[in-house]
Amino acid sequence: MEQMRMPSALKYELLAKCSTTKARTAILHLPHGPVQLPMFMPVATQASLKGLTPDQLESTGCRLCLNNTYHLGLKPGQATLDAIGGAHKLQSWPHNILTDSGGFQMVSLLKLAKVTEEGVRFLSPHDGSPMLLTPEHSISLQNSIGSDIIMQLDDVIATTSPDLARMEEAMYRSVRWLDRCIAAHKMPESQNLFCIIQGGLDLNLRKECCKEMVARDTPGIAIGGLSGGEAKESYCKVVDTCTSLLPENKPRYVMGIGYPADLLVSVALGADMFDCVWPTRTARFGNAIVPSGMLNLRHASNANSFIPIDDTCGCPACKPKEEGGLGLTRAFIHHIAGKETAAAHILSMHNVWYLLNLMKNARQAILDDRFPEFLRGFFKQLYTDNG
Ligand code: GUN
Ligand code: ZN
Repeated sequence: MEQMRMPSALKYELLAKCSTTKARTAILHLPHGPVQLPMFMPVATQASLKGLTPDQLESTGCRLCLNNTYHLGLKPGQATLDAIGGAHKLQSWPHNILTDSGGFQMVSLLKLAKVTEEGVRFLSPHDGSPMLLTPEHSISLQNSIGSDIIMQLDDVIATTSPDLARMEEAMYRSVRWLDRCIAAHKMPESQNLFCIIQGGLDLNLRKECCKEMVARDTPGIAIGGLSGGEAKESYCKVVDTCTSLLPENKPRYVMGIGYPADLLVSVALGADMFDCVWPTRTARFGNAIVPSGMLNLRHASNANSFIPIDDTCGCPACKPKEEGGLGLTRAFIHHIAGKETAAAHILSMHNVWYLLNLMKNARQAILDDRFPEFLRGFFKQLYTDNG
């Protein structure tokens, strides 16, 4: 195969590696500023994080958030994106944006989406008209969005699918679609295209896919097709197998991961970047992420609890008034949960802050070469402390 060379709009600067696990910490220099790895990326599907304004998201320390090509391509649409000058301008976000390519969202959201070699065929959710998302069209939309990291269009099959032949077809099709994405990408000097490793839970397919994708030399590499309800052990084997075959000097992004324990285990397996809608979604159901697991503020046990969600948390909701925070109590959030949208905003802020802070603590532990102790401490709190 002829090796394709692509310019890169990022620089991966390694800071430290854990001496016992595969964890690493680095600075990733992107077009809209540096970010620290490993990192969690909050998801702002419609160019807006559910529950937070852009300045509130900025106040959490977030410097890279996700948007979705599928949603922005439908609305406001490519012409509006071109007119305003891209998604950074649309949402007044001066920091980095990563866009997912759209195929995964269509296949997971629209039962009627159909994948062929050409692309993904689906009916417009707005007017029911037939539409086709090709690798070329996804890249063109992402060029108009202007995101700092753009994702290839990939053929995603449910991880738990027993159809190995279909899984193999999807893996090789994703490689062919990467070649089409590379050929269609007009702005490699300002936007970093990431490939996505597919292959389900079959380690041989994953190895073959790593070999093919790595040869295409994209600035970063994602591992996709996970977080679909597979067993933890299968998940870990896939991530471990892939990271062992990936170059050391490129960022590795595991798509769709966001539970605290999964994040830290994946960091130990050598992954750097993660995203998930879960922290903001679960906030809308009244849930707060805490060191012992989850706290449901709708539960009656909070009615007379005059303490913060988590007294070790530095988020604006939990921080005492004397220290410049809001000093909100569990009792107050319980009182408004389910009735007032403010409860969802408060819990979204807390949850995003919690995950960003967890990753910050992980980075410091890697720097200090005490990541295994940090992991043990985390799991001890999760499984022995009942809040
Ligand atoms: N989000 C979660 N998993 C995936 C995946 O496999 N591919 C894409 N494009 N997005 C995802
Ligand atoms: Zn908090």
